[in-house]
This record gives sequence, structure tokens and C-alpha cells, in this order.
Amino acid sequence: MRTHRIGVIGGTGPQGKGLGYRFALAGHEVLLGSRSAERAVAAAAELNARLPEGRGVTGTDNAKAAEAGDVVLLAVPYDGHGDLVASLRGPLAGKTVISCVNPLAFDRRGPYGVPVPEGSAAEQAAALLPGSIVVGAFHHVSAVALLATDEPLSHEDVLVCADDAAAGAAVRELAAAVTGRPGVDVGPLRLARQLEPLTAVLISINKRYRTQSGIAISGL
Ligand SMILES: NC(=O)c1ccc[n+]([C@@H]2O[C@H](COP(=O)([O-])OP(=O)(O)OC[C@H]3O[C@@H](n4cnc5c(N)ncnc54)[C@H](OP(=O)(O)O)[C@@H]3O)[C@@H](O)[C@H]2O)c1
Repeated sequence: MRTHRIGVIGGTGPQGKGLGYRFALAGHEVLLGSRSAERAVAAAAELNARLPEGRGVTGTDNAKAAEAGDVVLLAVPYDGHGDLVASLRGPLAGKTVISCVNPLAFDRRGPYGVPVPEGSAAEQAAALLPGSIVVGAFHHVSAVALLATDEPLSHEDVLVCADDAAAGAAVRELAAAVTGRPGVDVGPLRLARQLEPLTAVLISINKRYRTQSGIAISGL
């Protein structure tokens, strides 16, 4: 397995912590980022308390996490996403940037996908980061499941969309840290337009069936 140094932007939230935990458990070096380095240090301490000997994460600010990673995960809400991503254009140049951002809203009928001018949050990031390679992945793995156990989520698939073949392959390999096997190559980055709002369906199912639903692809 190729090990990466992974920066997590928004690493104090459940999804950033959950994926950061799984990446660290698999042996990757992880830097949790935040708008406040102090908050990231606290989040890192929380994860380090449960990581085994020889595994660990570090807390820092978003810019330093972006600079340090060869792969950088965007794990921030869609609200404020554009401004934050644009502010990190310099440190993210030359990096593979993974977006798991789901632009969702909620009303009394439940969750739904919101329109994004660029088509999807991943494509918005790609437009704002011309010097980076953006890959969409990890939209459907729930933070609760990521942090509930150390066992691979072997009943789920990580769907990966990318326009760059090598970056897509690297992220599919990284998905093994979560599911125990490589992610599924679904096609070009524009398919993030379908992947992101699909999460609204999972959240709606979770509410109706009181479960943690996930995605598994048959026929492969
Ligand atoms: N939660 C899940 O199960 C799940 C599953 C799949 C995908 N996702 C996606 O992953 C992303 C993160 O989810 P989450 O549940 O972890 O979100 P969250 O807790 O709402 O936010 C994550 C972190 O982003 C930072 N943040 C919040 N508002 C911000 C803003 N306006 N500008 C810059 N940074 C901001 C905060 O960190 P600081 O205050 O420390 O900077 C926060 O801890 C979302 O796009 C979500 O759709 C989540």
C-alpha cells in the first residue's frame, strides 16, 4: 500500500474526524485542519486517545494541513465552501484534492440536494482550484459508522469520480482504509452531480428505517 500524507480541511467535524481516523488507522499520516488550530489539536487528541500505538494524527490550521498533504480532503459544509476553497488555492496547488462535500438542505419534508452553479461541489472546487486535481469520493459513508468501530465497512462501497486517471486510482486505493477494498470507479468528475444529492436519499432512508444506510454496488 502506498502511504500518503493527508490533510483534512474541516478536520474537526464528524466526517473529517471519521475519515481522518480511518486513514490514520490504515497507516497514513493525517493532519486535521481547522479555522482554529486549537480546535484541531483538541480533535487530534480525541482520535489519538483511541488509535493504536504507532498510529497518530496531528492538529493544525487549514492552510498548514493543505500545504502539508500530498492528498487533501475537503470535509466542510457546502455553506462557505467556495470562499474557503478559494482561500486555499495556493497551498492546494499541485495536490490531489478529494471532495466528499454534499450540498444538501433540509425542510419539513426532509433532506434534498441543492443546485450548485458549477454542477456539483466537486466541480466548484475544481473550478476554484485550477492548479489542483479534484476527485469526488466518500460522499455516502456516514461519520457515525466511521467512528463507531475499527472494523472495515466491508458491506459498503466508496464511489469515486475523477477526470484524472492516476488521481482517481490513488483515491480508489485510499478507500480501502474505509471498506477494506478499493473504491469503485464510477467515471468522470461531473458524476458528482449525481453522487452528492444521492446522500439525501440515504439520510431519508436512515430516518424512516432508523438505520445507517450505505451504498453497495452489485454486479462487479
Ligand atoms: N457527517 C456525515 O456523516 C457526512 C457523510 C458524508 C459526507 N459528508 C460531508 O462532509 C462534509 C463535512 O461534514 P460534517 O458533518 O463533518 O460537517 P460539519 O461538522 O458541519 O463541518 C465540518 C467542519 O467544517 C468547519 N466549518 C464549518 N463551517 C464552516 C465555514 N463556513 N467555513 C469553513 N469551515 C467551516 C468546522 O471546522 P472549524 O470550525 O474547526 O474550522 C467544522 O467542524 C459536508 O460537506 C458533508 O456533506 C458528511
